[in-house]
Amino acid sequence: MKKQKFGFLLIMAMLLLVISACSGSKEKSDKDTSSKNDSKSDETFTLQAGHSLPEDHPYHLGFLEMAENVEKRTDGRVKIEVFANSEIGAERELTEGMTLGTVDLVVSSTAPVTNFVPELSVLDVPFIFKDRDSAVKVLESDIGEELFDKMNEHGIIGLSWAENGYRHITNGKHPINKPEDLKGLKIRTQENEIHIAAFKELGALPTPMAWTEALTGLQQGVVDAQENPAIVADQFKLYESKQKYMTLTGHVYSVAMYMMSQKAYDKLPEDLAKIVVEEGQKAGSKERDLIIEMEKESIQVLKDNGVEIIEDVDLVPFQEAVKPIYSKVEFQDLLNDIIAAQE
Ligand code: PAF
Repeated sequence: MKKQKFGFLLIMAMLLLVISACSGSKEKSDKDTSSKNDSKSDETFTLQAGHSLPEDHPYHLGFLEMAENVEKRTDGRVKIEVFANSEIGAERELTEGMTLGTVDLVVSSTAPVTNFVPELSVLDVPFIFKDRDSAVKVLESDIGEELFDKMNEHGIIGLSWAENGYRHITNGKHPINKPEDLKGLKIRTQENEIHIAAFKELGALPTPMAWTEALTGLQQGVVDAQENPAIVADQFKLYESKQKYMTLTGHVYSVAMYMMSQKAYDKLPEDLAKIVVEEGQKAGSKERDLIIEMEKESIQVLKDNGVEIIEDVDLVPFQEAVKPIYSKVEFQDLLNDIIAAQE
């Protein structure tokens, strides 16, 4: 009997031990979760932001302001390190990095991002936007929201719409006044199917490559021409890379985006992630204002450095030449919605 009582007591004691061990581990796991969302925690976070342009380009300045505001509002708990000049990857690599979670924040033109989010390619159709104001109106409407939703399906959060500026053609051979002048010209394009198709329609020989390869391509004569906004031509001194002529075709209003990796967002406590998103949402319009301010200045710098600027271009023959692209676009409904929204 005594033996039975002892056995019973032993079992009870063991049960108590197990119960207390379990409740101990529950307490621990509750604590872990609460510290993830605790804004008073001392934990700090560093995010890496990357882009392909120099430190005085609006892409960079937009990020610097975002970084400053985020650091202030989080009492130094979130720092954003900004890497310019493709230091942590060219635009396509940066986009891939966001999907993998190896890059946290990126500002990039849309063209290379279409390789991951094909719906964005509609924004790169030449002459799709009437003008800058119409483009911004479209991007900041439900159409832009839906595109951001599509990006989300690929692990990228669209923070705000920015711009690279109007793309113009530069080359080292001769002035370009009409599409026929592009015949046989080897032109570096972005890695984007629509851009490649458009330059084929215009009679040029498009060679897609990352911007990191474009300068050497121009210097070594692998390509004769390229197309980019005046600020890019100025900041990369393209006149030192044989680019003597710039034709103001403005064939693509080059949309850009401030973006965040979903994986980076998920790593942050909720209150801090909210601040990063809110500040990222402000970066785009600030960046666009800076582009407008700097565009004219850059054209002057190019002129001062001997670039012949072909300003009064009859755009109608260029628009006619690229028209066949419109019926080949995969997302016809989206294309029509964008056109209708500007009527
Ligand atoms: O031509 C490009 O690749 C882009 O316009 C650039 C210069 C990287 C800026 O987004």
